[in-house]
Amino acid sequence: MDVYRLLRPLLFALPPERAHALALAWLRRLTPASGQTPGSAPAVLGGVAFPNRIGIAAGLDKDAVAVPGWARLGFGFVEVGTVTPRPQPGNVRPRLFRLAKDQALINRMGFNSAGMDAVAANLARHRARAASTGAWIPVGVNIGKNRDTPLAQAQTDYDACFEALHGLADFVTVNVSSPNTPGLRDLQAGAAVRALTEGLVAARRRLTPAGERPKPLLVKLSPDLPGPALEATAEAALSAGADGFVAVNSTVSRPPALRSRHAAEPGGLSGAPLKALALATVTRLRRFVGDKPIMIGVGGVSTATDVRALRDAGADLVQVYTALVYDGFNLARRLR
Ligand code: FNR
Repeated sequence: MDVYRLLRPLLFALPPERAHALALAWLRRLTPASGQTPGSAPAVLGGVAFPNRIGIAAGLDKDAVAVPGWARLGFGFVEVGTVTPRPQPGNVRPRLFRLAKDQALINRMGFNSAGMDAVAANLARHRARAASTGAWIPVGVNIGKNRDTPLAQAQTDYDACFEALHGLADFVTVNVSSPNTPGLRDLQAGAAVRALTEGLVAARRRLTPAGERPKPLLVKLSPDLPGPALEATAEAALSAGADGFVAVNSTVSRPPALRSRHAAEPGGLSGAPLKALALATVTRLRRFVGDKPIMIGVGGVSTATDVRALRDAGADLVQVYTALVYDGFNLARRLR
């Protein structure tokens, strides 16, 4: 029986952030597992071995508190973060809204983060434990900037996070697409994303031990970039040395069909109403960049059919967030 169907009304009676905290607290107590369960299809991308292709999207475990738990639930990888250099509280509450009739969420969390040092300590602890249990799923670390760092100095923040966390990550994602940090998405402009990526690729060269393969560096993109801008961003990132993309982040657009009372809240919309945009973005990107770059598809995935559609459009891996809130933790098993 799916216990989550019984639990959901209780969780939904709580404010969304309280329900989120409870779920994470429960997950932290799960013992680790390798994610290599029967029926899962492994993949190797950029030298990283994924036990299966379904992962947890950024924002769900921002501070990397529950990494072994995600493996235990059957996910093939987890992207933690967004991590900022210094700890910061994020925006004032309420900042997370359920749009149940639309199977969607709107969030304007604004990078609440324990900061890179605390996240590094959490990841180091998980890795030490995994060294004795052998249970590990790849961990992507999604990095960003503090809200009060001027945009002109953003590079310093990304560099600091990269330096602190690269050694503990299996891949790194550069988040230039959150709608909730003012100005952040300007970093998707060709010249900006090129400079940012070049800086991180140089840092990676310094931090990669001789003879070791560099860890994949991915750029997370917005679904709100018009096609030509999307291609210009992709071109700039790849020519600067990025290995691929995570597509897509939440959208500031509001499809007219939304029915929930919170539909007009400012912030990023995720879940079912994002699905078509995510699919269109992955399709366009894959056509433009060719076979080689790594592509993680994310946005509105809640069924095995959705996974298949993104995979057919060119995604190597697929992530979920919002569907977990509505469908519960058995989701990984249903999607794999
Ligand atoms: C997010 N997402 C997100 N993305 C990111 O790169 N950094 C972040 O910190 C966050 N934070 C965050 C918080 C909340 C509450 C939500 C709902 C989402 C975006 C997320 O990773 C994903 O790209 C979108 O949610 C689309 O996927 P789903 O939710 O439709 O499966």
